[in-house]
Amino acid sequence: MTELDPTKMPRHLAIIMDGNGRWAQQRMLKRIVGHQRGAETVQMVVDQASNLGIGYLTLFAFSSENWSRPKLEVQALMALLKKYIRNELRRMLKNNIRFNVIGNRADLPPEINVILDDALQQTSGNTGMVLTLALSYGGRQEIVRAAAKIAQQVQDGTLQPEQITESLFSQHLDTAGLPDPDLLIRTSGEMRISNFLLWQLAYAELYFTDINWPDLTINTLHAALADFQARERRFGKTSAQLNQRS
Ligand code: FPP
Repeated sequence: MTELDPTKMPRHLAIIMDGNGRWAQQRMLKRIVGHQRGAETVQMVVDQASNLGIGYLTLFAFSSENWSRPKLEVQALMALLKKYIRNELRRMLKNNIRFNVIGNRADLPPEINVILDDALQQTSGNTGMVLTLALSYGGRQEIVRAAAKIAQQVQDGTLQPEQITESLFSQHLDTAGLPDPDLLIRTSGEMRISNFLLWQLAYAELYFTDINWPDLTINTLHAALADFQARERRFGKTSAQLNQRS
């Protein structure tokens, strides 16, 4: 197993969980079987992240664009989500995990929203890792929603245009209160951001692996974290500046 430095964990890990469909197709199975296996990988990654002391884990579970998939697949994904949250709630309570959701919740079926609200409420006092599911989420849509909220305040006269800063803008995104991700992992060999956390990923390290999401193991997750730990994050500065401890 790869050695990890506990002092250099990403504070916030974001993941695009891709390749469930291909995993299933390669095995002549239905796509939904890939999603079911993918849900098992989610459990493993949540446990690992929480045990490794990662403060925030954000998973892209369903994009704004995923609504255009075949109706049966969308229904199956919603059913899987319902089952997952029900099962996961007990584990979140046991592991002190605080649940969180980003995305356009108004698009989700009402029975999913009831379950989400229950999980949000029951875990709201937890002080451990924050697990955020991005559901019906699109980065551009989120930015537009934030801009509209800010414009409304300007129109109401409660905010002046000069008061609009990066920090104020961040506070109007769905991710208000979460630090920006330090590391983004995407599985299945695709090298795209796909409308995920567009604003928040500005300085994130990106890690792409060919492994399909259902095949991700503890070892391959640790390899991604080790790769992150070996990188130098400069935030626009030079190496020399970073090495001066003044
Ligand atoms: C991408 O695979 C994955 C999704 C669209 C959904 C992610 C869902 C899960 C991991 C399972 C359920 C999630 C939770 C939180 C219980 P894809 O279908 O796009 O794969 P493909 O690109 O190979 O077709």
